[in-house]
Amino acid sequence: MKKLIAGNWKMNGSLAANEALVRAMLHGLKGAAPAADMALCAPAPYLAQLQALLLGSPIAWGAQDVSAHEQGAYTGEVSAAMLRDFACRYAIVGHSERRQYHGETDVLVATKAQRALALGITPIVCVGETLAEREADQTEAVVKRQLAAVIHAVAHCTSEIVVAYEPVWAIGTGKTATPEMAQQVHAVLRAQLAAATQHPERVHILYGGSMNAANAASLLAQPDIDGGLIGGASLKAADFLQIVAAAQ
Ligand code: PGA
Repeated sequence: MKKLIAGNWKMNGSLAANEALVRAMLHGLKGAAPAADMALCAPAPYLAQLQALLLGSPIAWGAQDVSAHEQGAYTGEVSAAMLRDFACRYAIVGHSERRQYHGETDVLVATKAQRALALGITPIVCVGETLAEREADQTEAVVKRQLAAVIHAVAHCTSEIVVAYEPVWAIGTGKTATPEMAQQVHAVLRAQLAAATQHPERVHILYGGSMNAANAASLLAQPDIDGGLIGGASLKAADFLQIVAAAQ
C-alpha cells in the first residue's frame, strides 16, 4: 500500500497564493513517479479552483470538514453532496481544531464520517489527545474512544476510512511525537481497527502534528505510520514534496 501524504491548508490561502503553490507542487512532481498518494484539503471556497488545477494530476483534493446534515436549513454548512459536486476525494472530519473551537463531539464527528462515506468521499478521521490527557496517561483511552464512535457509526465501511493520529500538543507547535511515541499509538489504533474490519492493513493511519521535511522520514519508517496529515509544511511546495519523497 502506498503511503498517503495529505496537506491541510487550514484557513490559509487566496486564489493567487493557491495557484502559485499548486503550480509549484505540480512542477516539482514533473517526470518522477510520485512516491506516495497525495491530497490537498482546502477551504471550501477554493475547491472549484483545486478541481480545475489538479484534475488529471497525481494530487487529489478534499475539504476540511463536512456537515453532519444531508441538506436544508443549516446556514453556513457545506454538505457531502456539495463536496462531491467538486469531485472531492477526501474530507477531514474531527480535526482537533473543530473539536476544540467548535464543540464537535465524538458522535457528531462519527455522523460526519458517515455522511462523507455515503457520498463516496473518504473521511480522514482525526483523533488525538491533549497535553493534559497525555500527562494523565489517558492517551490510549482518548484515541480509542474517539475512533470507537466512528467505527460504531460506519460499521462495515470501517476499512474505507482514513485515520489521522494528531496529538493536539504537537499541532502547529513544532513539538513532534517521537517516531516511537507515534508508532505506539498507531499500533493501538491498528489493533482497534483489526477488531472491526477484516482488512485493518488497508486503512491508512496518518500521523499529523508538526511533521516536516526534516522529521518525516523517521516517522514514515514506522510500521504502522502509513502517511502524514501536514499543516504548516503543506503551505510550502518544496517542504510538501520533500515529505512526499520521504514516503518512499
Ligand atoms: P501542523 O498541523 O502540521 O501545522 O502541526 C497538522 C494538522 O493540524 O493537521
